[in-house]
Amino acid sequence: MTSVVRVLTGITTTGTPHLGNYVGAIRPTVRASRKPDTQSFLFLADYHALIKCDDPARIQRSTLEIAASWLAAGLDPEHVTFYRQSDIPEIPELMWLLTCVAGKGLLNRAHAYKAMLDKNAAAGQDPDADVSAGLFMYPVLMAADILMFKAHQVPVGRDQVQHIEMARDMAASFNHLYGELLVPPAAVIDDHVALLPGLDGRKMSKSYDNTIALFGPRDLLRKQIMSILTDSSVPGEAKATESSAVFQLYRAFAEPAETSALAQAFADGIAWGNAKQQLFERIDHEISPMRERYNHLVQHPAEVERLLKAGAAKARAIATPFMDKLRHAVGLRPMVAASSQSVAPKAVVKSALPTFKQYRAEDKLFYFKLVDVSGATLIQSLAFDSPRDAGQTIKLLQSDGVAAFNQITAQIDLAASQPVHLIHAALEQLSKSLAE
Ligand code: TRP
Repeated sequence: MTSVVRVLTGITTTGTPHLGNYVGAIRPTVRASRKPDTQSFLFLADYHALIKCDDPARIQRSTLEIAASWLAAGLDPEHVTFYRQSDIPEIPELMWLLTCVAGKGLLNRAHAYKAMLDKNAAAGQDPDADVSAGLFMYPVLMAADILMFKAHQVPVGRDQVQHIEMARDMAASFNHLYGELLVPPAAVIDDHVALLPGLDGRKMSKSYDNTIALFGPRDLLRKQIMSILTDSSVPGEAKATESSAVFQLYRAFAEPAETSALAQAFADGIAWGNAKQQLFERIDHEISPMRERYNHLVQHPAEVERLLKAGAAKARAIATPFMDKLRHAVGLRPMVAASSQSVAPKAVVKSALPTFKQYRAEDKLFYFKLVDVSGATLIQSLAFDSPRDAGQTIKLLQSDGVAAFNQITAQIDLAASQPVHLIHAALEQLSKSLAE
């Protein structure tokens, strides 16, 4: 028997993705999501973005651009759970439960917070000058992201490893008090993913202003590549590979045989202009097909929005029941137990299922609805001409659940129905009980 590994990672939505983000984060997570026995949770960390960025338009734009980049790079939202952090209200809810078990001393030791203290001390300022409580609580929000979905592995850069250790720490404190409910995660650092050099040879980073645009116009890609800093060796003179940003960048995109061929060309004294042209062609070959999809998505934000909403429904089908369990564990629960009556447990389970009701309304047309145990309407259909049509649609929903629902939404009165994630959860509950 093989067990499924749950992998989770997020990207903070404060900027436009560059080539370094693609090689270091986007491409490896898309590849990892295709591995068998892997369940991927990938999300846009927009609550985290608020810690560093107070420009609303920028956060909105960055969320679109990062989502479009991930999708253009081949992420399959059917196969993975792809969502926006702020669409999952259970995450800040869990954050509060974790806040109450996290030691303040633990948070005092976070590198990002300590770096601010050091900076303030050096400037002779108050130690907490410019430190928001959000920055201080950053590791707790990140722990909530991870623990909500019981992630086993969290692929991150080295700078984030401490945060994963803190998440383990919070999970252990919580479990110690309330039982084994949270799964401690492990950081995964991929050393094969080389740090990509930027235009000036230092690590490609927005803070060095040396980035190459990922999905900019083709001409910009060529122009930026032609501007990469090189040594002053002339054509015909042998060139060093390891110290060359052109070579490192090429290697990040090429097959090993192509890389060897370029190494030979370097030894033979290839002209820099020629090497850069090869680099441009190699990168463009990989990026071009994605660029079209990226541009399409950025011009059609409603498509991205729809995918993210569907992803949020998938994520909440896990988060909502798990959060209920956690609330219950800490004592946030009804004062009267629901099952205290002397009803046989089996009967309780049966009656707790939502049920379909078919009826004829005053307009003489035929309708159905799905109602939950409390009698609240989950699904309200539009009118059918015949009772048979209504009945067949019910049958379809009973046999195919969520998949059927997604196909018959044109027959649903969405305004009179519950949000889609609640409908999905109810249909899943129904099909589970049928399978028993
Ligand atoms: N802090 C991460 C970064 O800036 C982004 C992030 C937020 C994250 N929550 C996460 C990464 C959970 C992994 C898991 O890179």
